[in-house]
Amino acid sequence: MKTIIQMLLLAAALSLGAGTAQAQAPAAKHTFVIGTNDFLLDGRTFQIRCGEVHAPRVPPEYWRHRLQMARAMGLNTVCAYLFWNLHEPKPGEFNWSGGADVAQFCRIAQEEGLWVILRPGPYACAEWEMGGFPSWLLKDEDIKLRSRDPRYLAAVKQYFQEVGRVLGPLQITQGGPILMVQVENEYGFYAKDAAYMGDLRQMLLEDGFDVPLFACNPTAHLKDGWRADLFPVVNFGSDPAGAFKSLREILPQGPLMCGEFYPGWFDTWGATHHLGKLDNYLKDLDYMLKSGASFSIYMAHGGTTFGFGTGADRPFKPDTSSYDYDAPISEAGWTTEKFFLTRTTMAKYLLPGETLPEPPAKNPVISLAPVTAAEFAPIFANLPAPAADAQPRNFEVYDQNYGCIDYRTKIPAGPAAVVEAPAINDIGQVFVDGVRIGFTDRRSRNFKVRLPARAQEATLDIFVEAMGRVNFGAEVLDRKGIHGPVTLGGQVLTGWQIYNLPLDDRMLAGLKYTPDTGTKTAGPAFYRAVVKVGQPGDCFLDMRPWGKGFAWVNGHNLGRYWDIGPQQTMYVPGPWLKPGDNEVVILDLLGPQQPVVAALDQPILDQLRPQLDFVRNLRPAAKVKLAALPVVFAGSFAPGANLQDVKFTQPATGRYFAIESLDAFDGGPSAAIAEIALLDESGKPLGAESWTIADVDSEERAAEDGAAENAIDGQTANYWITEWSAAKPAQPHHLTLDLGKSVTVGGFRYTPRQGPDTVAGRIKDYRIYVGDAPKP
Ligand code: GLA
Repeated sequence: MKTIIQMLLLAAALSLGAGTAQAQAPAAKHTFVIGTNDFLLDGRTFQIRCGEVHAPRVPPEYWRHRLQMARAMGLNTVCAYLFWNLHEPKPGEFNWSGGADVAQFCRIAQEEGLWVILRPGPYACAEWEMGGFPSWLLKDEDIKLRSRDPRYLAAVKQYFQEVGRVLGPLQITQGGPILMVQVENEYGFYAKDAAYMGDLRQMLLEDGFDVPLFACNPTAHLKDGWRADLFPVVNFGSDPAGAFKSLREILPQGPLMCGEFYPGWFDTWGATHHLGKLDNYLKDLDYMLKSGASFSIYMAHGGTTFGFGTGADRPFKPDTSSYDYDAPISEAGWTTEKFFLTRTTMAKYLLPGETLPEPPAKNPVISLAPVTAAEFAPIFANLPAPAADAQPRNFEVYDQNYGCIDYRTKIPAGPAAVVEAPAINDIGQVFVDGVRIGFTDRRSRNFKVRLPARAQEATLDIFVEAMGRVNFGAEVLDRKGIHGPVTLGGQVLTGWQIYNLPLDDRMLAGLKYTPDTGTKTAGPAFYRAVVKVGQPGDCFLDMRPWGKGFAWVNGHNLGRYWDIGPQQTMYVPGPWLKPGDNEVVILDLLGPQQPVVAALDQPILDQLRPQLDFVRNLRPAAKVKLAALPVVFAGSFAPGANLQDVKFTQPATGRYFAIESLDAFDGGPSAAIAEIALLDESGKPLGAESWTIADVDSEERAAEDGAAENAIDGQTANYWITEWSAAKPAQPHHLTLDLGKSVTVGGFRYTPRQGPDTVAGRIKDYRIYVGDAPKP
């Protein structure tokens, strides 16, 4: 075995060394290679102190400012994903301008003394719409993403060729700042096909990438899809020693690098705002600096996901527009305590002769006094010409990537009855003759609404809002709109009118406003205000009087807002305002409490208002009692943070799966789980798209986000944990999943809460229940 690994490593060294030869080309000013022990820049040991910044999450006017901030924080390198859907919005139509001009971003980085690590995908994750995949890929009904499916690989090839054309010349081998290029992203989380990784690698080589190519994975999946000719790095939020020990199993020698080191975490609508644990972060950062390891802080500066950029976690936890991330550089580019402590820590370990520049001045900040939106454009009064369809179908079939669709049909007179569909992605508003009757909601997988009795024929509208597509796991195949057929009282409804509402510039320009600002019951509507600005500066639109939707300032789409929080303000970059009159357009899908536009001089990112949610409680009112389900397995987990596959003695079938924690390794009252995946009879993970939480006995919601959904979102860095800040309920604890339908389960894959062995709540003894609970 050892000799095989040595041979593979030799092969890896040879291919990774390709950069050396190229570096002798006349244009090259510098060389970068992966040496036996270190990264070598111009032949000298180079510790990569990197941090992630995504160009499209920062207004281009501020790219230089943020990169100067990154440099002042102590970074010598920035890491940047490319989002394929931003660069190829339609097949074969490429966009590299404005906010998508990543080459310019790289050039500015170079001017500011930063190297660049490029992560072109094709898949990125990053809480970005569909993980960066263009949703037009979904027009193909059975396309297999992240696989060797020739249709998928052909599309990737075309995109990578463009990436090579635009960014290839910016490699260090050609005098540019790009040191390394990442292939795919955490592929081991998804599958194990090393040949697929090889296909992508080959394409990048053919497209002229001659710098080292690498792959990143979380600790638990380093070996999945691993190949010797891609340099491996490990992603983690804690326990660098443990993670690097695992990395050494596939990289016996060579520099150690953390590909993503989390100082905080992203937020999703309706869940507690995330703050990183500052002490742990600094301790781990210091450890890496001291031990000579390289790293990339994910995120150094998160910024904002403007427009339609946000994604969603699985099974369905849509991300907020703010991507502040509790990163050292705040969403608006401000220094933070974490920024200065990071800088001080970095300063202890600078390379010989290196000094850190001072941070640039803070950009001006303003507030805006409240103005009532004087104009109003209800969507139902602004519908485009419809297309006819026998059955309602997904957005992608109608070539619509984002926004809303109103699906309309006639329904006969009749008694009260339930209208329903197999799925409606993501939020549906059901209207009868223009009156809103109720909501469907993918978060709770409720796709039915009871309609009242009708004395005569009526018009049924199902107005569907697409939120961001899932950016993680098998669920990225996230088709929006109605998954039909729609039935009323069991009868299939046909003869639909499809009103496409893409919320694009063309649609906005065609809206007919009236001076009336409407009423709360008017349904989805645009509101327009003219806001006077003296001297422009950064500010934060105060969305607290509004319901749910999008906001535009002078035509710039600021992203999504939602009254449930935790984000209550929207970042407005100063350069997007002008002295004098400024146009603010707000699409409110629910109707505001008051159509008032105002801006604060600081953000509110941590205010949850669950009482405003149209689904008051995402946990079902009638609980599935644990005692109602049969025990199908009992066991004890191995200690440590490693992923564990458990095979049942016999497969079990049922709609509900529960895990009961009997005690924890730390002997304490808490139970925590980073991830639970269910396996079929052959040991393959089952899809989670139809899962919801049926019951959980306790969750920490105040001191940290310990919500039960964290155990099924595919992310190993976050976790479900029972309450510990106020009450400390004792063991046993349980978490019950509703799988949406009866499923045969052969076993499960358990990822313990990550971190050192002292972390609270890592489960020791457990029982598993699977069954179809009696109707409560
Ligand atoms: C993973 C991905 C990143 C991002 C983080 C969470 O590590 O690689 O793209 O999604 O999770 O922020």
